[in-house]
Amino acid sequence: MSDFETVDDVAAALASDGYIADRQLATAVFVQTRLDKPLLLEGPAGVGKTELAKTLARVTGRRLLRLQCYEGQDETKALYEWDYGKQLLYTQILREKIGQLVADAADLHTAVERVAQQESVFFSERFLAPRPLLEAVRSADPVVLLIDEVDRADEALEAVLLEMLAEYQVSVPEIGTFVARQAPYVVLTSNNTRDLSAALKRRCLHLFLDYPSAERELEILRSKKTGLSEAAAKQLIEVVRGLRALDLRKAPSISETVDWARTLAVLGVEEITPQVLADTISVVMKYERDVKRALDVLPSLVDPNAVLVESLEHGHHHDHDHGHGHHHGHDHDHDPEGKAERLAKDRPGRHDENYYGAPTPAAAVGSGRRSVPASQASRSFAAGLARRRAL
Ligand SMILES: Nc1ncnc2c1ncn2[C@@H]1O[C@H](COP(=O)(O)OP(=O)(O)OP(=O)(O)O)[C@@H](O)[C@H]1O
Ligand SMILES: [Mg+2]
Repeated sequence: MSDFETVDDVAAALASDGYIADRQLATAVFVQTRLDKPLLLEGPAGVGKTELAKTLARVTGRRLLRLQCYEGQDETKALYEWDYGKQLLYTQILREKIGQLVADAADLHTAVERVAQQESVFFSERFLAPRPLLEAVRSADPVVLLIDEVDRADEALEAVLLEMLAEYQVSVPEIGTFVARQAPYVVLTSNNTRDLSAALKRRCLHLFLDYPSAERELEILRSKKTGLSEAAAKQLIEVVRGLRALDLRKAPSISETVDWARTLAVLGVEEITPQVLADTISVVMKYERDVKRALDVLPSLVDPNAVLVESLEHGHHHDHDHGHGHHHGHDHDHDPEGKAERLAKDRPGRHDENYYGAPTPAAAVGSGRRSVPASQASRSFAAGLARRRAL
């Protein structure tokens, strides 16, 4: 009972949902679904890493579970927590019953012992609040588990992930070990803000997702039905590819190409000119310095001959528009250095804090924890791991 019969099936299924994968990516997805191995996608921002997981979930009819990683993330947010509020509510409602239990206890020690004997009632599945990792292995239906921006997670969380990814299981000391009924399709994404551990990489199928080829980007534009004519779309893609080769703080990604195409379409643009691109440059360039650099080269990107004219005239700007059709000399495809350059540019901090969800204030977490029975101290999966490793 597999979701895909062939690599082509994968590509077709993804395309039916508007995601255009190249052969390499479709192959990786196919192999992942056959070998039950996690797929690690690395690459610059906006090349479709997250979108792949979402699309995979939609086309396979699987539920998508998402773990968004961030710095300082507590493993409880990844694995599970005890539902403290619910525990409290139950003890309130059962107050009398609990009172009866300890009513005839001779001293405090005996009373505590009696309550402790009932602990398993409150540390049972009923009071478990599963977070994405536990949810993924506990789910009755098969799921897609997206572990997004794993390079932002701390190494401690990475260790927790390793265990889960190797066995597709999570242990809860008070209850036992949950093992996935059906292996989840796991997709991890990374922006390369730091090196991931070799152990993590070893467990995953690994793919570097770069900016698409011109043909694939055109296909993506088509699938998005931007409203821009085919000829203009082709021209636009050449311009974007030229911009990507510049030394920019944030190179335009696929989503920016799509946004730009939509913008030009609503403006009724039929022919791409340096002027119309300059007027709309803010759609793709998010930093002032980048805008300046882009404006400088737009004429030459729209019409490569403009470069010639310019250099002949010793750098004087000359708006020279020869229309379509002159797009040679801008193929940066096979430039491994360009790739390294872009990677270097893809720095952390692209998003503000809110994007990752504000981390739980330490005080709130701490107070919740102190108020529950001591057995919870052994709750921690990572702590258990560390102990086992220490032996
Ligand atoms: N192959 C593709 N086919 C169709 N659309 C795509 C493709 N790749 C990217 N896109 C579009 O680009 C947008 C951005 O992609 P996505 O959010 O997946 O990027 P990302 O690689 O996860 O970036 P980041 O590192 O910033 O999270 C998507 O919403 C989608 O519309
Ligand atoms: Mg993403």
